Amino acid sequence: MDKMIIQGGNRLQGDVRISGSKNAALPIVVSSLLVDGPCTYHNVPNLKDIESILLLLRDLGATVEKQGDTVHIDATGLNQFEASYELVRKMRASILVLGPLIARLKKARVSLPGGCAIGARPVNLHLKALSQLGVTIDIVHGYIEASVDKLKGNDVFFDMPTVTGTENLIMASVLAEGETILRNAAREPEIIALADVLNQMGADIGGAGSPIITIQGVPRLKPVTASIIPDRIETGTYMIASILTHGDVNITHCEPAHVGSLIHKLRLTGADITINDKSIRIKGPECIESTDIKTLPYPGFPTDMQAQFMVLMTIAKGQSIITETIFENRFIHVSELKRLGADITISSGNVAIVRGVDHLSGAPVMASDLRASACLVLAGLVAEGETMINRVYHLDRGYESIEKKMNSLGAKIQRAM
Ligand code: EPU
Repeated sequence: MDKMIIQGGNRLQGDVRISGSKNAALPIVVSSLLVDGPCTYHNVPNLKDIESILLLLRDLGATVEKQGDTVHIDATGLNQFEASYELVRKMRASILVLGPLIARLKKARVSLPGGCAIGARPVNLHLKALSQLGVTIDIVHGYIEASVDKLKGNDVFFDMPTVTGTENLIMASVLAEGETILRNAAREPEIIALADVLNQMGADIGGAGSPIITIQGVPRLKPVTASIIPDRIETGTYMIASILTHGDVNITHCEPAHVGSLIHKLRLTGADITINDKSIRIKGPECIESTDIKTLPYPGFPTDMQAQFMVLMTIAKGQSIITETIFENRFIHVSELKRLGADITISSGNVAIVRGVDHLSGAPVMASDLRASACLVLAGLVAEGETMINRVYHLDRGYESIEKKMNSLGAKIQRAM
């Protein structure tokens, strides 16, 4: 199993290009299931999670071709309606095929995703909302068995905003009869990106990016060519890498508007941030100031940046309070950061108190999930000596060529078996 060995203490400097967004690409490639004919997507990131979803689409009968960052998908041959436990177990986002399968084939059998390292992550809100469109749902032997005669639009309220839940419902309702209104919908940029692609296919979706999304059903969609938006979490991760190492990094091919809450917080740490059209230049301050964060649905501070931000606070001046409100178990990185010398106390489950220390010192650590792995890479960049990260396969799920990109900025990261 791959490991990463990082020699800390190098200042990062130069340009780094951001890849396409994993969490935008996943629902967009899945939306091809709604169309007869070839769809083409550019700027698709080269990631394990993307490989997994493409494998699932092939399994369902779609033709899939990948050349570099371009993917061609033709779901004319869609003939299977089952997403197996094997595939869903590897990647929870496989649940995204549920909506399109019901819309196209009127039935679906999708393994119920289990919990994962960061929380229980139920899909009850997806299922409740789908049932309001007329879908009959049973849980049988660990599978969601869903069927419908005719999908009918309805007024649907989500008890809490769910990203993939909102995406599933949008994809189920674009071909439904009549109007669907999704209230308390998720507002993430990935929702807007999906709605944009579906509208280009001929769907009629309004309000994406706001809590109320309105979908007028259409009889059919047509093939498209589209490009995937930049990855805002990869962008944020490189921003923090620059500050941590007192560096000067120019992040290119990104969307500054998608990292607004993060830019606000990073400026409070003393970072010098210059925003251009599609790039962000970020210089680390001599002394990093501490500041508090609380994760919230977009446009609040993203839970997917919480672990990386915590690393920054471990070497900041003073004390920071980090509150995680989205997932109940997203502090697994804390014990690993403590092995590197961080001073962190968890109080009341979802609140971490981080007291800045002079320096971190390298040690072997274990990656537990994607963003926790990124946080350990960041910690390794500033820890004195060598940090060895075990189980780096998590990183390959969501960060394209991370060691190559970091090394091109001056980091010293080596992959080993
Ligand atoms: N929730 C429920 N019931 C549901 C659905 C969600 O209780 O039916 C709860 C969740 O347990 C959680 C909250 O609602 O407490 C929000 O979860 P959400 O459904 O929004 O998360 P998701 O759609 O499963 C996506 C991203 C995650 C990201 C979260 C939050 C994708 C493929 N995944 O997950 O990304 O953390 O939104 O922003 O878009 C990552 O990339 O590392 C990652 C975990």
